[in-house]
Amino acid sequence: MTSRLRLGVNIDHVATVRNARGGALPDPVRAAHQAVAAGADGITAHLREDRRHIRDADMARLAAELTKPLNFEMATTPEMLALAERLKPHAACLVPEKREERTTEGGLDVVGQEAALVPVVARLTAAGCRVSLFIEADAAPIRVAAKLGAPVVELHTGSWCEAVVAGEAEKAQAEFRRLAEGAALAASLGIEVHAGHGLDYDTARLLAAVPEFVEFNIGHFLIGEAIFIGLDAAINRMRQAMDEGRAAV
Ligand code: PXP
Repeated sequence: MTSRLRLGVNIDHVATVRNARGGALPDPVRAAHQAVAAGADGITAHLREDRRHIRDADMARLAAELTKPLNFEMATTPEMLALAERLKPHAACLVPEKREERTTEGGLDVVGQEAALVPVVARLTAAGCRVSLFIEADAAPIRVAAKLGAPVVELHTGSWCEAVVAGEAEKAQAEFRRLAEGAALAASLGIEVHAGHGLDYDTARLLAAVPEFVEFNIGHFLIGEAIFIGLDAAINRMRQAMDEGRAAV
């Protein structure tokens, strides 16, 4: 029997709306508590170098207050490392970061970066964080993750989701296969496999049928849906979509 998928809710874009006006509302930490109450299995937040959405004070409150695991998405910079060591989130997900990108556009470039990543993984592990590498679903980065001893990889679902939404059936099929094969390889190497970026109800339902996935991290779509049907209902519908997809395995 395959197990229930975990849903991590990314609350970054509640902070995006708050920052549009410069005040304190809407409060992303309130959204995090409400997401947990609605059934989220964890909360994800990305503290970017330019602080365009989540701020230091939000991350500190999330680390102090949450009753479910906090997944701290971070670049591999000295500043973010020091912060993770101080806040000790449950998980630290290493993501690439370029100032000019609107969102995280590709997986972390780990191939050839092993030497730089070894001390990062070691420091985060020593701080008690479960290290996750946000990578493309290709054999090379997955094998590097295994070599680094990362307990978790999060496979980038962006290209697949974009192809599905654009109706590019052939590309979508190829990208789905890449994700499924990547998940199987990572799991065979003893790595826990997560997925995220661009997921909506339909893509989450489809991807849930790949049994190696253990957790999905979903943000933008859920916060957008919350505008129309409320956060609790959006999380419930996502939960249902994921459970339906998993039940089909
Ligand atoms: N996982 C990671 C590593 C991400 O960088 C992001 C985007 O911040 C997400 C998941 C969530 O993506 P989305 O907001 O498109 O659902």
